[in-house]
Amino acid sequence: MLKIGVLISGGGTNLQALIDNIDAGNIDGEIRLVVSNKKDAYGLTRGKLAGIDTLYLDPKEYKTPREYDLKLIEEFKKREVDLIVLAGYLRILSKDFIKEFKNRIINIHPSLIPSFCGDGYYGDKVHRAVLDYGCKITGVTVHFVDEGTDTGPIILQEAVKVEEDDDVDILKERVLKVEHEILPKAVGLFCDGRIVLDGRNTKII
Ligand code: GRF
Repeated sequence: MLKIGVLISGGGTNLQALIDNIDAGNIDGEIRLVVSNKKDAYGLTRGKLAGIDTLYLDPKEYKTPREYDLKLIEEFKKREVDLIVLAGYLRILSKDFIKEFKNRIINIHPSLIPSFCGDGYYGDKVHRAVLDYGCKITGVTVHFVDEGTDTGPIILQEAVKVEEDDDVDILKERVLKVEHEILPKAVGLFCDGRIVLDGRNTKII
């Protein structure tokens, strides 16, 4: 059974979807640690309620982002974590971290990458940009994390319709529902060893 580490910065509804799917037997993995860079992230409470080890690591206590990530690596390795899931984690990972967990870091992004992603595109800003552009379709992407921002090989994507009277909150909720389906699906596929990487392409076997 694969050991999973989850990084969060906010409400943790994607973390909750992972917890619920593990409990339902849909994912052959166990979450060994949830870490947040935000003390008040409700995702920490979700972890605690599920009986999962949680950690708040204050970035201000580390001289550099690299040192922060070395602490993350230490904590995850202490718990023999095999897979890292970024579930609404708003810090950029250092090269050391990416190297340590090469092709074993999964992120979820609330748009159809390569649209509306990269620096500055996170949370509500993504949906705002989709609406301002006048898109008729947006969606969700689950991808491996490489040294870029939202640039790693794509694992799963799903389209989400934009309705004429959508505002950010309505669209965000519609997208979030799909996030809660495809992130657990991707993590489950990874735990079952069914994601084959071929350069930038992934195949589900
Ligand atoms: C989600 O929209 C996710 O796509 C993005 O950050 C948000 C996290 O939401 N990366 P939550 O904390 O899982 O509720």
